[in-house]
Amino acid sequence: MKINCSGKIVIARYGKIFRGNKVKNAMLAGAIGIILYSDPADYLAPGVQPYPSGWNLPGDVAQRGNVLNLNGAGDPLTPGYPAKEYTFRYAENEAVGIPQIPVHPIGYRDAEILLRNMGGIAPPDDSWKGNLNVLYNIGPGFIGNYSTRKVRMHVHNTNEITRIYNVIGTIRGSMEPDRYVILGGHRDSWVFGGIDPTTGAAVLQEVVRSFGKMMSGGWRPKRTIIFASWDAEEFGLLGSTEWAEENAKILQERSIAYINSDSSIEGNYTLRVDCTPLLYKLVYNLTKEIDSPDDGFERRSLYESWLKKDPSPEDKNIPRINKLGSGSDFEAYFQRLGIASGRVRYTKNRKTDKFSSYPVYHTIYETFELVDQFYDPTFKKQLAVAQLRGGLVYELADSRILPFNIQDYAKALENYATSIYNLSKKHNQQLKDHKVSFDSLFSAVRNFTDAAADFHRRLAHIDFNNPIAVRIVNDKLMLLERAFIDPLGLPGRQFYRHIIFAPSSHNKYAGESFPGIYDAIFDIENKADQHKAWEEVKKQISIAAFTIQAAAGTLKEVL
Ligand SMILES: *[C@@H]1O[C@H](CO)[C@@H](O)[C@H](O)[C@H]1NC(C)=O
Ligand SMILES: *[C@@H]1O[C@H](CO)[C@@H](O)[C@H](O)[C@H]1NC(C)=O
Ligand SMILES: *[C@@H]1O[C@H](CO)[C@@H](O)[C@H](O)[C@H]1NC(C)=O
Ligand SMILES: *[C@@H]1O[C@H](CO)[C@@H](O)[C@H](O)[C@H]1NC(C)=O
Ligand SMILES: *[C@@H]1O[C@H](CO)[C@@H](O)[C@H](O)[C@H]1NC(C)=O
Ligand SMILES: [Zn+2]
Repeated sequence: MKINCSGKIVIARYGKIFRGNKVKNAMLAGAIGIILYSDPADYLAPGVQPYPSGWNLPGDVAQRGNVLNLNGAGDPLTPGYPAKEYTFRYAENEAVGIPQIPVHPIGYRDAEILLRNMGGIAPPDDSWKGNLNVLYNIGPGFIGNYSTRKVRMHVHNTNEITRIYNVIGTIRGSMEPDRYVILGGHRDSWVFGGIDPTTGAAVLQEVVRSFGKMMSGGWRPKRTIIFASWDAEEFGLLGSTEWAEENAKILQERSIAYINSDSSIEGNYTLRVDCTPLLYKLVYNLTKEIDSPDDGFERRSLYESWLKKDPSPEDKNIPRINKLGSGSDFEAYFQRLGIASGRVRYTKNRKTDKFSSYPVYHTIYETFELVDQFYDPTFKKQLAVAQLRGGLVYELADSRILPFNIQDYAKALENYATSIYNLSKKHNQQLKDHKVSFDSLFSAVRNFTDAAADFHRRLAHIDFNNPIAVRIVNDKLMLLERAFIDPLGLPGRQFYRHIIFAPSSHNKYAGESFPGIYDAIFDIENKADQHKAWEEVKKQISIAAFTIQAAAGTLKEVL
């Protein structure tokens, strides 16, 4: 809308994207400060009382949360390396991802006071408007008698370097102690952390307890299991990222998978799964063995209620599974190291519940009572999530052949290639003018599809009693995700190295497929040098094609 934000304090509505992206956008627009507020449209469900009578957000409370743009760096002072005593630290003004302008969150009662007298132009459409009784004028400045009013921000933050604690437990594998399955989740919280992370940290503890019980009965998994309770997730995934940095060499050689155990509920409607396509089949298989915790699905499986409530948009015969983005501790393991990863939790109804996250997310009202009274009074939802997370770890650590399906990856790649190609078609004339072709990408995907089919055909006929033969196929399965890593990383984001998936550049929470190509095409019509911009698209297509072709090569029979 061509409004000049230079030198202004801006106010932004929370929701839809990661708050750190909002702060970055404000800085890019020249703002000198940003106030974030929770609008009733995004944090009040209709017909529900504010906490403590219900689970809605009261008007006088603010959502906390970090506003860093770390792009996977971990500790802002030690990007790429573990923050050991001896590690070289950047000066404070060189720190990665820290906003250069003051930022402060407020509740909707305070926001109303600022918004009530906002002047300037009227909002372009209803999507801009929230549910406060104000006009939602865009500004700049205030109306009429208030036109000389100013906003002043006093923000008192202290920067300090402090020690954090990860707690690591292991069960040594009986046959392949040098193969690791990791179950990790954070323990630090904003205030009480009733949902985030405690509903996930409790699940981690329960999975540990039940594996311990099996060990008392004489059981031991074939492969090593690592349990990790991370610190400082809320400060930018610091504990998990520093541990990944410290152990990167070992982890990339030995890790089978990373399963995340952050919050196990953000709603009480149905299951939500975000994972690598390698895990789709295992997730579907396991959910068929777990009882549905949902009312009306007694004696039926979690798979059945999940399918009924949230079918996949591509194939209505299977439940939806999402791409991994970021926003929790799997990031370094998946996006940087290329370790097959997944996260599962209970979520709200995406069709009817338009509010963002859960209303009291990251506020002082995230309490045990909130969970006990409103989200999961029987604790059955959390039990189902614990069974699925635990089941994933169990199967990954103990199956003779790793329970990964590569043909599902091939299908996903074809879908992503078609969808980025479809997106590029909006610039049909430019594709022709600049001679941009997706042929190499589709060729590589076809080759990968053939290699995957061939791999699974051969897998059915290997000699299961030959431990070397089993280890050879398992190594290929383990290292396939790693093959999608480009050591150079994505443009301008050296710690996001997965060529197929990355956190969206515009919303850290969301996953983007073919992020290199996507970012090259994004807003391309507004780039000054069109020739250069389309050359970048060609470069990114070739990187994606090469990476997929090279990954297909790792599946071929060793001659
Ligand atoms: C603005 O101030 C004038 C004079 O004090 C007053 O009459 C008028 O009602 C005020 N307008 C608004 C919108 O508050
Ligand atoms: C839990 O489910 C019930 C029944 O669908 C619903 O009315 C209630 O609001 C839900 N609670 C939360 C916190 O979503
Ligand atoms: C899923 O279950 C089917 C049927 O039992 C089995 O053939 C397949 O190997 C399983 N796949 C995985 C990845 O667990
Ligand atoms: C791509 O576009 C075609 C033709 O419009 C459409 O049929 C297909 O569903 C689209 N596929 C994806 C993955 O976007
Ligand atoms: C796919 O395989 C064919 C046949 O081996 C080969 O000619 C082609 O170059 C491969 N595609 C890519 C992108 O490497
Ligand atoms: Zn969390």
